[in-house]
Amino acid sequence: MNEAPVKIVPRSSEGGATAGGQPGRKLQIQVLRHNPQRQGSVPHWQSYQLEEADGMTLFIALNEIHEKLDPSLQFDFVCRAGICGSCAMVIDGRPGLACKTLTKNLGTTITLAPLPFFELIGDLSVNTGKWMRQMSERLHGWLEMKDKNPDIGRIEQTMDPALAEHIYELDRCVECGCCVAACGTARMREDFVGAVGINRVARFRLDPRDARSDADWYDLIGNDDGVFGCMSLLACHDLCPKDLPLQTQIAYLRRAMVRQGLG
Ligand code: SF4
Ligand code: SF4
Ligand code: FES
Repeated sequence: MNEAPVKIVPRSSEGGATAGGQPGRKLQIQVLRHNPQRQGSVPHWQSYQLEEADGMTLFIALNEIHEKLDPSLQFDFVCRAGICGSCAMVIDGRPGLACKTLTKNLGTTITLAPLPFFELIGDLSVNTGKWMRQMSERLHGWLEMKDKNPDIGRIEQTMDPALAEHIYELDRCVECGCCVAACGTARMREDFVGAVGINRVARFRLDPRDARSDADWYDLIGNDDGVFGCMSLLACHDLCPKDLPLQTQIAYLRRAMVRQGLG
């Protein structure tokens, strides 16, 4: 069911011009809407029209729509700065973060849909947290200390700065789910750990405090739901909004797991 387009004028462009004095573009934002909690709800596109403001992100655009026109529209935001990962959605067919996407880099007609694969809460809101939690529990995605009874009064051990930097780089994952939403293997294998899971293993495998060996990692990801299920088409690498080196990590871990499997 298509619903009639509705018009909204953003506060920042009242008077018909942006802060820079130029009239804003007229945007048409088409949102795929569906609320599985509501009886009788069916997926449908709804169109909203608004005038583009200077520096407008999709976060700002959606909030304008929500505040001024349609409070029933569901979407998720927390940080507005690309660090919580909650605003991931499909933007013109590609997973991305709405708060980091400037409308000026898109055409005048923009389509927004919820991330596929994850449980739909409503409209653009999906439950990535539930999936991330089960992935983390399966992979034991936390530090398993070599020292089971650490002396908490002891001075912290130092870590080689280059290694700490490397671990930090992989720790920048915000669990947005874009890599999983873009992944062909995840569509075919429900239990595939995704690039986010492989990156998680890579992070703890690097950590000198972690007790696990490659034999332990092999038990977790040395199978088709882990590194051997990955088809290496690298949509995850291309779309990760944090530019994580997923291509390198997948290749590196796969080689290590082959070595472990053959050894
Ligand atoms: S690896 Fe990148 S795309 Fe995947 S969840 Fe982490 S930040 Fe998002
Ligand atoms: S490279 Fe592997 S993990 Fe990344 S999107 Fe492709 S199949 Fe998924
Ligand atoms: S709102 Fe936190 S990443 Fe977009």
